[in-house]
Order: sequence, then structure tokens, then C-alpha cells
Amino acid sequence: MYAPPLIQILLFSLLYSGSAMSGLVKSETEDFIDWWQHTVFYQIYPRSFKDSNGDGIGDLQGITSKLPYLAETGITAAWLSPIFQSPMVDFGYDISDYKQIQPEYGTMQDFEELIDTAYGLGIKIVLDFVPNHSSDQHEWFKKSAAKEPGFEDFYVWQDGILQENGTRLPPNNWQSVFYGSAWEWHEARQQFYLHQFTKEQPDLNFRNPKVVQAMDDVILFWLNKGVAGFRIDAVNHLFEDESLRDEPLSGKTQDPLSYDYSKHIYTKDLPEVLEMIQHWRRLLDDFSSKHPERPTRIMMTEAYAGISKLADYYEDHDGVRGSHLPFNFHFITDVKGDADARDFVYNVEKWLIYMPRGHAANWVMGNHDNPRVASRFGASSVDAMNMLLLTLPGVAVTYNGEELGMEDYRDISWQDTVDPPARNVGKKLYKEVSRDPERTPFQWSNEVNAGFSTAPKTWLPVHPNYPELNLEAQKAANKSHYSVYKDLIELRHSAIMRLGRFNIEPISRSVFAFKRSYPNFETIITIINVSDREQLVDLSEFVNRPKKLVVEVSGVDSKYEEGQSLAASAFSLAAREGLVCRLV
Ligand code: GLC
Repeated sequence: MYAPPLIQILLFSLLYSGSAMSGLVKSETEDFIDWWQHTVFYQIYPRSFKDSNGDGIGDLQGITSKLPYLAETGITAAWLSPIFQSPMVDFGYDISDYKQIQPEYGTMQDFEELIDTAYGLGIKIVLDFVPNHSSDQHEWFKKSAAKEPGFEDFYVWQDGILQENGTRLPPNNWQSVFYGSAWEWHEARQQFYLHQFTKEQPDLNFRNPKVVQAMDDVILFWLNKGVAGFRIDAVNHLFEDESLRDEPLSGKTQDPLSYDYSKHIYTKDLPEVLEMIQHWRRLLDDFSSKHPERPTRIMMTEAYAGISKLADYYEDHDGVRGSHLPFNFHFITDVKGDADARDFVYNVEKWLIYMPRGHAANWVMGNHDNPRVASRFGASSVDAMNMLLLTLPGVAVTYNGEELGMEDYRDISWQDTVDPPARNVGKKLYKEVSRDPERTPFQWSNEVNAGFSTAPKTWLPVHPNYPELNLEAQKAANKSHYSVYKDLIELRHSAIMRLGRFNIEPISRSVFAFKRSYPNFETIITIINVSDREQLVDLSEFVNRPKKLVVEVSGVDSKYEEGQSLAASAFSLAAREGLVCRLV
């Protein structure tokens, strides 16, 4: 197995922290840390970021025009939700040509300009790679449906069950993540095909080596265009049970069409997934080794899976390397708005315990599939959650708009709703599942459509709070969510945030603290009150003996100024307040 020298050094370095809680690859010098091990990945949702041509839809030139904003914020890596040719049934996650740019987003030349501009500004670009399914408009699917030689088994086709009365039933009880049967009858081919998402997203058959080869080709195509890696979509859905067994019922709902109706033991997390991840890792490592002058090419994998599975994605029991960053969604899935300090600490420690040694931890605070931070934890928690995200060891993943504390727009009407799972469950229930609220356009300014677009109508409505909540206003203010976010990124660039030994503890049920320390460096401590009441905090035990804290970053409404000193043994934190301090 190829491993670049840098990685080998990391692997075999004995200089990891002595603490079992360290989530950080540590060495004597920071030169040992590769770019992706301590970066902030900023997720851009292209459709909603910036519209350059006034059609109400974000596009590549729009993104390029805003890259200086990312650079100014201190962002050095961005991952883009799909920009490829697509009928847009699932807004780009249904790809009809993996090597073409979606025309409403721009051209290949626009993409090349985006990459060039990004690299000029020191920003690496990671693309979304959607291997589990294509669009039903992809030529592969059309050829497969027509049984063209070489394409017959590109997708998962089945006869289903022929009943005595001549009707055909799907081969088993598998459901689509987006509601309803995962099987769709294809009139022309006279067979069912599998689709774990919408029926317009047929599952590719990864047991067919030709499919694996075709997808490798896609990866190489974009690597050659200069991308720094891939976020791999829905990776744990890649393989299904070959004998097509029915999935056992979960008992969670009476609705047989709901995805929650059964336990997905035959359609998700199959062992073959790990082999595919390792295969792609070899491809990326091989490419990196052939282009040592360019940054290491990396993969981040999207899977809502059990923690031990995710740990294996990093590296399996035999030490075979896999995903650089199996996304850690636990701040989204496992820590709810009413979580107390112990829940937060437990969540962080759990990841670090499971993660194999020598890897970089990662923390995802939001994405286009889940409610925003302000809507999950409350608007008053925005700064504290950004402090948490950006001062933990390893990699932080921010969804665009979270730096401003953008809020979900929950009042999108049924008429304006476009998200497929929301449309599938109908008018009564759509608000419970719709992902539109977190996908509304980025709020740049108080101009029309929040400065996102000049169109009379945008693809999703702009949140009506934009006249107050927008980047321009936050930049003009003395202090804002944005300025706090920016200060945190600046702090991240300091050596202690890359190298510091990590330790986290609940101070009480309401408050937790963690520190980054390293010999000859000043310790950095983050303290967060997750309760709705003011708390008096005593950190003397946590910092060993009474010491002073000097405020490095405080939230928008904090009474503490930067540079102010506090006694570690007694200070108060307002409801939902976070503070980042230096220990002196
Ligand atoms: C992933 C994407 C989501 C998409 C689904 C199907 O979960 O993040 O937006 O709908 O895959 O591709």
C-alpha cells in the first residue's frame, strides 16, 4: 500500500499525546501536520450561495466572486455540494453526467476559473462525489434499461414477485430513505430497479467491476482538474444484501412506506462498503504520490452510521487506510437542544475513544440536510457552538451561513416547497422532514433578496429576517457572530491550536470546559454554559490551581471584553454563553 512519507511519519510517530483523550495527531513540530488534518472545511451549497446572472439560482461565477470573502474570513478549504449536470430532482444529487457542469451553474471554463481563483487565494476545493446512484436521465441508466451490451448490470435490476393474478410485486420490503418502496417498475425493461433515494435516482450496482471502473474514471477526471479531494455521498448505501432478504421491522411506526418502518440491516453498512472506501483511498494516494508538488488529495465520507463502523472507515482492524475524514455528525444527531454539559463532553470523548490513534478528529456542526445551529440549539447558542466547533482538536466542518448564525426558514409554504422527501410525505407532514428551511439563500446584505440574486423570485424564498441578519450588517457592527467566527479562525492558526494536548471535563451539569496545552505555550481554555440560566463557574480544579484567565474570544452579547482578565476560581457565564480564554 502506498503511503506518502509524511503520512508514514504520522502513522509511526510515537509522539502522540499521552492522554487517551487526545484527538490530535501530535508531533514535536507542526510541519508534521498535513493541510487537511487541521483545517476548516466550509461547505458551499452552490444553489443558494450567490447568483451571478439573476436567474434566482446560485452559480459558479457567484461562488468565484465570493471566494475573497472566504479568504478574508480565514477559510482555506471549501467543499461544494454537487455542481454536475442534473435534472435537479434532488438538487444535484441526481447526476446525469458526472463530467459536465450543470448549465444553470455555468460552464467548465467557469469551474476552471473557480479552481484557479481559489488556489490563488490559498483555498482548496473539494467536490461532492455521488457514487451510490445516478439520475435516471444518465445515459448509463438509459442503456441499462435497454439492456445494451456492457450496461445490462450497471444498476440493480430484479424481476420481483409474480402473483397468480398476473400482477408483480417488488422483490422485498425495502424502503426508500425518501419514503415509499425502494423498487420501481420499469416498463421497457419489464423489471424493477432499486432506488434508495427518489425513483429518479437509481442505485448503481457496485458489484459490477465496470461500475467501479467508470467511477474511478470520474474521480481521476476531477483530480486532473485540480480538486483537492471528494466528499463521498451516502457511502454506506453502496451495497445491498445479494439474496435480497426482507428487512426486519423496527416497531417504530405503523406506516409501511416510512423509512423508519424497518431496520436497514440488508441495505446499509455492508462490509463491502469498507472495501470500496479503501479502494478509493488507494486511488487518491496513488494520485497524490504522482503529484507530490500538489496538496495531498483527500476524501471525506458521508455516512449516518454507528460509531465503530465510522472508526473502521478511518482504518480497519488490519490497519488498512480508508477515509481521511469519516464525517462525525454526532453534534447533529446525538446532542439535542436540551443536552447538558455531560452530554457534550460524552459526545466529544466518545469520538476520540473510537477513532483509531494517529488520525485527525473531525466535527461537523451543520449541513444542507439538517436544521441549522440557531434552530437546533437556539439563536443565543450560535457563538458558543462556533467556539466549540473551532477550538476542538482536528478538523471543523462549517455549513455556509453558520458563521452569521443564519436561521432555518420554517414557514416555507407547501407551494414553495421543493425538497423531494417533503413533497413525498405530503402537505400535512412536509414541515417535519423538509430540508428546504436550511437551504435558503445566503444572506449577504439588506438589498433585495439579501444580495443573493436580482431575480424577481429565488429558487427558495429568502429568510424574511435578512434585513437584520446579513453579512454586511455583521461586518459593520462592532461585534457580531461573524466577527466572533473570524476571531476563532484566527486563533486556530496559532500553534497551540494545532499541537495542543486536549482535555475536556464537565464542570457542572450546565458548564463544560476543555483546554489545549503544550509545554512552553499558553494554555487555551474554552468554557461553555449550555443551560438557559446564568452560572457561576469555578475552574480551579480544572486548571490545577487558582489562576487568571484572559479573554481571547467572547460572544456578541457577552459582558466580557477581549483582553479582560478573570479569576479562574469565580466568574459567571450568561445563559448559553461561551468564552475562549488564555490561562496565565
Ligand atoms: C446525501 C445528501 C443528500 C441527498 C442524499 C441522496 O445524504 O447529503 O442531500 O439527498 O445523499 O443523494
